[in-house]
Amino acid sequence: MKQKITVSAPGKLMLLGEHAVVYNRPCLVTAVNQRLTLIAQVIDKPLFQLEAPDAGVTNYSKPLFEIGQGDIPKGAKFVEIATLNFTKKHRIKQGIKIKTTSDFSPLFGFGSSSASTVCILKALSELFKVKLSNRQIFELAFKTVLDIQGTGSGFDVAAATFGGTLYYSKAGKKTIKPLNLKSLPLIIAYSGIKADTVTLVKEVATKAKRYPEIIDNIYNQIATLVNIGEKALVKNDLQTAGELMNFDEGYLAALGVGSKKLADMIYSAREAGAYGAKLSGAGLGDCMIALASNDKIQAVKEAITKTGGKIVEVKVNASGVRVEK
Ligand code: PMV
Repeated sequence: MKQKITVSAPGKLMLLGEHAVVYNRPCLVTAVNQRLTLIAQVIDKPLFQLEAPDAGVTNYSKPLFEIGQGDIPKGAKFVEIATLNFTKKHRIKQGIKIKTTSDFSPLFGFGSSSASTVCILKALSELFKVKLSNRQIFELAFKTVLDIQGTGSGFDVAAATFGGTLYYSKAGKKTIKPLNLKSLPLIIAYSGIKADTVTLVKEVATKAKRYPEIIDNIYNQIATLVNIGEKALVKNDLQTAGELMNFDEGYLAALGVGSKKLADMIYSAREAGAYGAKLSGAGLGDCMIALASNDKIQAVKEAITKTGGKIVEVKVNASGVRVEK
């Protein structure tokens, strides 16, 4: 049996469809080439040990039989509960030492929690010779996220597992469809503000209780633009894709998850000639994205920087979870 393994999974960016995807509408998500790396090692003592310095966790150690119990630091939750779900299901009794490092700041909203959840499940399946397909990793990782957060669409887990650019919906049997893209010249910028996804999802839910027909209609409009957006991206029709981003941004503002800072960045991108721009993820903070033709990219980046946005240089359409060594 292998004693030590290194795996990695990509971060993600939502292209179209956030919030509505929680309510069974589709979304488009792409994996980014900044990755979370996890090293897992079987140890003699029956302990669960974790180092996740990027998530503020150092020297974390507890007996195996106590995993999932007591006060779990925020930065340890996803790896610990995923380990609990895996070891319970597959009756693993050996100790394990884990270390995670990330290419990206956990502030960006690239999905470090879901990437670490997917990584630990992949690592444990390899170490303990439990054959898991990507679909099975996705399902167990999504269960883990729901165990912890109680809410979420799983789009981030799908991106970390499968990589590429996906059409995703959690409705019914869940749709995870890879898109074959020629290019996706996305400009990404960080707003400097950390978004709190769980709180924002709850706020939108509260609004939906007060205005059910309005919000439901917004979700349906978002679903429509996601479906048109899928076709546009596959045809490399970036102009349409950008315009759909602008529609989506309008709907997200109507849901109440926009912010002045993001709006400034988004408008500056549009004014500099981007086809379109929108927030990406839960809203109020994290990153915004813009689509522009090659000759406009530099001007768009400069315009966003002038409004205080920080350009994040990443490539999209990156590969999903994989064994590194
Ligand atoms: O901020 P992020 O990257 O976790 O994105 C949130 C997207 C939501 O649709 C608001 C939530 C979800 O789980 O889909």
